[in-house]
Amino acid sequence: MGQLDGKVAFITGAARGQGRSHAEALAAEGADIVGIDICAQLDTVAYPMATPEDLEETAALVEKQGRRMIAHTADVRDLAAVRAAVDAGLAEFGRLDIVLANAGVMAHSLPPYGNSERAWQTSIDTMLTGVWNTLQATVSHLISGGRGGSIVITSSAAGLRAQTTERSGGADGYFAAKFGVVGLMKAYAGALGEYNIRVNSIHPCGVDTPMVVNDFFPNWIAAHPKTASLLVNALPTELVEPADVSNAVLFLVSDTGRYVTGLTMTVDAGLTTVH
Ligand SMILES: NC(=O)c1ccc[n+]([C@@H]2O[C@H](COP(=O)([O-])OP(=O)(O)OC[C@H]3O[C@@H](n4cnc5c(N)ncnc54)[C@H](O)[C@@H]3O)[C@@H](O)[C@H]2O)c1
Repeated sequence: MGQLDGKVAFITGAARGQGRSHAEALAAEGADIVGIDICAQLDTVAYPMATPEDLEETAALVEKQGRRMIAHTADVRDLAAVRAAVDAGLAEFGRLDIVLANAGVMAHSLPPYGNSERAWQTSIDTMLTGVWNTLQATVSHLISGGRGGSIVITSSAAGLRAQTTERSGGADGYFAAKFGVVGLMKAYAGALGEYNIRVNSIHPCGVDTPMVVNDFFPNWIAAHPKTASLLVNALPTELVEPADVSNAVLFLVSDTGRYVTGLTMTVDAGLTTVH
């Protein structure tokens, strides 16, 4: 018996990193998965983004757990595309129980643009409006299912404390989006409680995924020593693993967390305690 037998989860940013780990973890507990990812490069992002092959690999890993995954290339900034993917999943699986709004990017001011406006817009569009779009496409289905549900929004330690001294690039947009989704989470936790739908956010410190484990990020950090000095965890680890975040997600979406809603849950090795 899995903790999520018979349930269906919708996951954004499912091609790799934390989204893939969540898909595998939920499938291992019995859930079928509907997953989307943009699977394309954005010109404000300095590290390689996910590919269609990555998304296929996630689906294969879900199948290895004995569950099914319907995977679509879709952009969370495009509400119609998110709705289409959710609706296709419902047509196939007949229900929706869990929503993980996980997709995200770390945008920077890169040549040839050289100013922060595009990086700001990418950050807000993907990680604030994209989360709102995900809620619009899914909440009515959770309500009409009549079985309650659980929504987890991936924020960041950057959604609780501003560990930066930078005013340029995507850093400001990243913090604004990650703080912004806490407001969304609280508003929806209040609004959806009567339907037994729980809404929480998770706040990891650095996670061992291609967003930060790439050729660009260490150089950026080295060039910004004040920010680097604020990114030191209390516990003796630089990064947590995607599975550590998946374990927190599993707690929030399973019956173990049945009375937990409106929570900003850290998986941050103590980062926000010390900075
Ligand atoms: N890695 C970290 O250190 C860290 C720390 C705290 C929070 N986060 C957050 O965790 C979440 C997952 O990131 P990750 O660490 O797995 O990084 P990742 O880059 O490995 O995965 C993010 C996924 O989101 C997808 N994505 C980006 N923009 C999208 C869009 N517009 N529409 C659909 N999909 C899109 C990417 O293609 C990628 O597959 C993000 O919200 C990120 O901001 C990451």
